[in-house]
Amino acid sequence: MDFGMKNRLSRIFNPRTGKTVMLAVDHGYFQGPTTGLRNLGETVSPLVRHTDCLFITRGMARNCIRPESATSICLRVSGGPSILGELSNEDITTSMEEAIRLNASGVGMSIFVGAGNEDRTISNLGRLVDEAERYGIPVLAITAVGKEMGRNTRYLGLACRIAAEIGARFVKTYYCDDFYKVVEGCPVPIVMAGGKKIPEMEALKMTENAIKEGASGVDMGRNIFQSDKPVGMIKAVRAIVHKGASAEEAFEIYSKA
Ligand code: 5RP
Repeated sequence: MDFGMKNRLSRIFNPRTGKTVMLAVDHGYFQGPTTGLRNLGETVSPLVRHTDCLFITRGMARNCIRPESATSICLRVSGGPSILGELSNEDITTSMEEAIRLNASGVGMSIFVGAGNEDRTISNLGRLVDEAERYGIPVLAITAVGKEMGRNTRYLGLACRIAAEIGARFVKTYYCDDFYKVVEGCPVPIVMAGGKKIPEMEALKMTENAIKEGASGVDMGRNIFQSDKPVGMIKAVRAIVHKGASAEEAFEIYSKA
């Protein structure tokens, strides 16, 4: 692996722990001004210093994030349909030149395995990897899960493995029972998405389980920024990811914030 690729990956995955706390705030790219992100700058401002890497679109990075921030960014570069359309109908919406201009440490896009446009999203991933590798930029593949797909090891294992086979440097997926089987079948690091807002203790338990079962961190959004104590929640998640805290210990951190 050459210098640029390693350097960028070390801005996403903390070299001391090999893990990452990514804060996902890209939801508006298809959901619009979703709860907690109506004023993205205001939401992110107190969280950014507890974050290893922000997962964000170029528009929000440009308009809502201080360029002086030491936190790295991974750019969401796919999009197209809104929540009113066919979600799998995504294409690449941001060029590699733009990712370099914004000093992105990574680029990310969704693949829709089993959905209407699975083949196009997977071949788009291949093209993105070809281009990003030329500049030493790691690609994050996100396994989007349609309503009709099961969040189980069989489906998520399939989607994560395909992402790695096509060349993603890391993969984001959801937690499921026997998550370790998904990790076993995927030779690149997996970060866990949080999914819909659930009670804090449940989200922390899910994080603890994912880390114990081999996840290399999280790329979590709603369970942090929609919490009643977003700073407490991100500190709690950090304690699990980087310090191996239990969900109970992490809940204490959240409660005291
Ligand atoms: C949306 C995404 C989000 O970044 C991902 O789902 C993580 O956010 P959350 O924890 O809220 O699920 O990729 O398509």
